[in-house]
Amino acid sequence: MNMMTDTLKVTKIADSKISSVDFNNLAFGTVFTDHMFVCEYKNGAWQNPEIKPYGPISMDPSAKVFHYGQAVFEGMKAYKDDNGKIFMFRPEENFNRINKSSERLAMPAFDKDYFFDGLNTLLNLESDWIKPGKDNSLYLRPFVIATENGVSASPSTEYKFIIICAPAQAYYSGEVKVLFADHYSRSADGGVGFAKAAGNYAAQFYPTELAKQKGYQQVVWTDANTHEYLEEAGTMNVFFRVGDTLLTAPTSDRILDGITRKSLIELAKSEGINVEVRPVKVSEIVEAAENGTLKEMFGAGTAAVISPISGFTHKDKEFDLPTLEEPYGARLKQHLTALQANRAEDPFGWRYEVPTIAV
Ligand SMILES: Cc1ncc(COP(=O)(O)O)c(C=O)c1O
Repeated sequence: MNMMTDTLKVTKIADSKISSVDFNNLAFGTVFTDHMFVCEYKNGAWQNPEIKPYGPISMDPSAKVFHYGQAVFEGMKAYKDDNGKIFMFRPEENFNRINKSSERLAMPAFDKDYFFDGLNTLLNLESDWIKPGKDNSLYLRPFVIATENGVSASPSTEYKFIIICAPAQAYYSGEVKVLFADHYSRSADGGVGFAKAAGNYAAQFYPTELAKQKGYQQVVWTDANTHEYLEEAGTMNVFFRVGDTLLTAPTSDRILDGITRKSLIELAKSEGINVEVRPVKVSEIVEAAENGTLKEMFGAGTAAVISPISGFTHKDKEFDLPTLEEPYGARLKQHLTALQANRAEDPFGWRYEVPTIAV
């Protein structure tokens, strides 16, 4: 990792567009704030960190990201409490993960000082876009793209690291029914499934569209070799409640090491819920659904936090989940979101208070 050498340049917009935004009607990830953070990699070093007005970036059509898909990203959120303090949730985990993703795609690691300096300054600058109150947050999308020109299949020597921000409200996905994958695969042993590589998502779109045409909102991916083990969904890790035990698959090189997932495992344990992290067989979940012991299934990820699943289909057999009075999913979501936004104690030290910076 290089030492941070360049100071952060900040260019503010003349007129904020915030007054034209209806904060009560935000479609997730479609409205962006006034500024973005951009940093360049060239001559073997990250340099020229800059916050500037949000807007298009210009690139040569031969830039390698367009041809070879060297692109990774992250998803994180900032929250504001009633005293106006800004918090993030385990941002160092996102920083470490984007560098893990980059390494797998032969891309350079980003500098930690640039990351936090850029993020903290950007959040101070965009503070008005972070609304206090339950369910409000600012979604942050850091990403890295290969910008070197030339259509030769080799790693780029130039990159851009960018952070854009989108105000978000509660993420209601409506009723979620899922299809257990028995043909297509999201990832394979030795592949890039653990990385937040852009191409992982493109590869899921087609099979997910097929599932949507059949009335399912998501696919739960299974292992590519046997399709016998349940792994994760499109942008979420998956939990199953059988009896009073929560089950979730262990991470591997096929599964994204979700920050919500790992936090929920600890949170559930701290609440006295029995959690088993182990390979979860399709057959045991089908059996549990048949004998009535499958009580809940939910997805876990930054965007929705927890997204309850109301039913699943495996090889044309459909199963509905019961409606519970007090599901673990709702209880854990309430606890985790309160902790994230400084409305609950944080015995784990997960919350990160964004320092106040004059901008
Ligand atoms: C494939 C995949 N799995 C799981 C997750 C959940 O990860 P996290 O909880 O860190 O958001 C995401 C979203 O980031 C994802 O894209």
